[in-house]
Amino acid sequence: MKVGVLGSGDVGKVLAGGFLKHGHDVMMGTRTAAKLADWAQRNPKASVGGFADAAKFADLVVLAVKGTVALEALRAAGAANLAGKPVIDATNPIADAPPVNGVVQFFTNLDESLMERLQREFADARFVKAFSSVGNSLMINPQFKGGKPTMFICGNDEPAKQTVRGILDQFGWETADMGKVEAARAIEPLCMLWLIPGFLRNEWSHAFKLLT
Ligand SMILES: NC(=O)c1ccc[n+]([C@@H]2O[C@H](COP(=O)([O-])OP(=O)(O)OC[C@H]3O[C@@H](n4cnc5c(N)ncnc54)[C@H](OP(=O)(O)O)[C@@H]3O)[C@@H](O)[C@H]2O)c1
Repeated sequence: MKVGVLGSGDVGKVLAGGFLKHGHDVMMGTRTAAKLADWAQRNPKASVGGFADAAKFADLVVLAVKGTVALEALRAAGAANLAGKPVIDATNPIADAPPVNGVVQFFTNLDESLMERLQREFADARFVKAFSSVGNSLMINPQFKGGKPTMFICGNDEPAKQTVRGILDQFGWETADMGKVEAARAIEPLCMLWLIPGFLRNEWSHAFKLLT
């Protein structure tokens, strides 16, 4: 697949690396290509452009920017370049405020997630929440003594979720589909839970698993 990754942070770079590892074509989108100069040298098969270039290039878009600017980044990518495409939304609505006893603060509330805001403004894009509830170092084919970890996903478009399920299979995850976009109200706060052992005890090497 042709994958356009919006975001030059750790998540964007790690997910782009995962797509390259599994044989996909990747274009990174950033406001400042210079930021990715080293990364591009180490990953010569990938290309780098602006947010709109990467979205236009893509069959599958990955949104991996700071949550507070997610709408802004999508506006820069352009609604027409996103229309009809699956968009993996890895963002979290973390506020620009310090954690309280290890608990990060959100700028959303339990009755409205960030992904609902994104889906509302970009009605023709097919958002799927994924990769938001695990640290970037564990996103690609992580190995756990307890077996395959679970990625909780949600989104309104079934074919888009099937596409993301296929990517998660490649990346070594089992998928738990939690339903439509509103389920992001429950999935986004999992990042809060995931971060607590890190902030309190410097433990960062866990992931969630749904037992049945
Ligand atoms: N870090 C993790 O392990 C982790 C795990 C799961 C989920 N997440 C979520 O994934 C997202 C990315 O996290 P991250 O740690 O990789 O990086 P980050 O520091 O949260 O975000 C970096 C990206 O945000 C973009 N950005 C910043 N200000 C912008 C603006 N005004 N307009 C447009 N874009 C702007 C930057 O774009 P430019 O390239 O143009 O500078 C950069 O690509 C976040 O929402 C985070 O909550 C993070």
